[in-house]
Amino acid sequence: MSGDNRHVFVIFGGTGDLARRKLIPSIYALVTETEIGNDCVILGVGSRDMDDDDYRAWTRDALKDAGLSDADLESWPDANVYFEHLDREADSLDQLATRIDAIEFTHDLPGNRVLYLAVPPSVFPRTIERLGRAGLNESAGWTRLVIEKPFGSDLASAHDLNDLVHRSFAESQVYRIDHYLGKETVQNVLTFRFSNPMFEHLWNRDRVESVEITVAEDLGIAGRAGYYETAGALRDMVQNHLTQVLTLVAMEPPVSFDADQIRNEKVKVIEAIAPITAEDVVFGQYEAGSVAGQPVPAYREEEGVDPESLTPTFVGLRLLIDTWRWQGVPFYLRTGKRLPTRLTQIAVTFLPPPLCIFHGAHDGCDMAPNVLLITLQPDEGFTLRFSVKAPGEPLTIESQELRFSHDDVYGALPDAYQALIQDVIEGDQTLFVRSDEAEASWRLYDSLLNESLEPHPYAAGTWGPAVRDESLALGGKSWTAPDPAP
Ligand code: BG6
Repeated sequence: MSGDNRHVFVIFGGTGDLARRKLIPSIYALVTETEIGNDCVILGVGSRDMDDDDYRAWTRDALKDAGLSDADLESWPDANVYFEHLDREADSLDQLATRIDAIEFTHDLPGNRVLYLAVPPSVFPRTIERLGRAGLNESAGWTRLVIEKPFGSDLASAHDLNDLVHRSFAESQVYRIDHYLGKETVQNVLTFRFSNPMFEHLWNRDRVESVEITVAEDLGIAGRAGYYETAGALRDMVQNHLTQVLTLVAMEPPVSFDADQIRNEKVKVIEAIAPITAEDVVFGQYEAGSVAGQPVPAYREEEGVDPESLTPTFVGLRLLIDTWRWQGVPFYLRTGKRLPTRLTQIAVTFLPPPLCIFHGAHDGCDMAPNVLLITLQPDEGFTLRFSVKAPGEPLTIESQELRFSHDDVYGALPDAYQALIQDVIEGDQTLFVRSDEAEASWRLYDSLLNESLEPHPYAAGTWGPAVRDESLALGGKSWTAPDPAP
């Protein structure tokens, strides 16, 4: 790590679910496994009636829930953990500013601050405005503002939120989270593309027939009806996670591996996407069914969901990228809750041979295409499907696979949040969404958000509404069979 990055890590929503499940365990991993060590002083901020000792105990419980043992907890630096009670209604953050000053004085810190908004999105604007008013937008060292997703709920709200942020913070201070970018395998898409010219030469309309990006979840809405009812799959997954993966698959090589060079290329992809219309999209909503052999209720029967809800829990869509590289190549995006399995995968299907010479072969020229599957989770890895001659006569052509499994070679991968928090501390914005990028991806889906498209029902535990295969959203073709198996 370069420079003096000793800092106070302020978590707004310090006792919330995100802090418990992701932030505290990731900070633990960083302070125990990396050079960050004692450089991080944590200040949880929340409305609960707690003092520093209570919060230390709370963070230890969070770490135990994350699977750490008592022996592991011996390296948790209690003396670096504090809590500041903040009334929900508090109009000013002056008291918090004073507390941060005092902590910096006690630990002799240079004034570096991470301000992490792990609060509900409805509270973002008020918190950001109060941070500015209390002068917490700047300090003697660096100040970095981390904003969780969702960043806005449509183009107008994202634009307003950007305006508000920029009234107090420079863009270079802002880290908008899309946790998919913190996943090792998502980052590996760039490494794979730009360090393997063999594939990069094939990565265009001359060789690629189609690209599919699937983010399937077997989970339902996990008790988050309040949020999900207003979001739905398009806002919750497509505008951010799937679009981010798409940009990494489709972008041009940046001139260097620098945050803004990479983000410039990503924005260009989003801006080159042709308008997506209602005919390009299929919405679905899960009905009762069974996942992994267990019966599960319909979305409309989930606690807190309107029994007549039209919120989509599945989206399948087709889009085109109007660039020289991709013109005419369909990109299919799909995501859904209560699908048969958890799987995030990119499938690049290559064009068939220009001429088939195997007319005498069994199954003739009906060969399976070359497909490159990049599995982002779980069973992370790459699979290349190609045709071989099965031994013997008559000539039979079969599809076989070459596979690389991340786990076999590298073992378990770190949590995405660990990578993202480390980057915030080190001041690397590459894996964070820039303001123009956030707005460009809302712009892409804005007209769809205003369409009242009724979702097609699908049984929980299936791959989404049957209509998807016939619909224009798929250009009349079937999805490449998802391939969860290693
Ligand atoms: C979140 C969505 O951003 O991503 C959730 O709000 C979704 O609905 C989650 O379940 C999926 O993340 P992951 O890392 O489990 O694929």
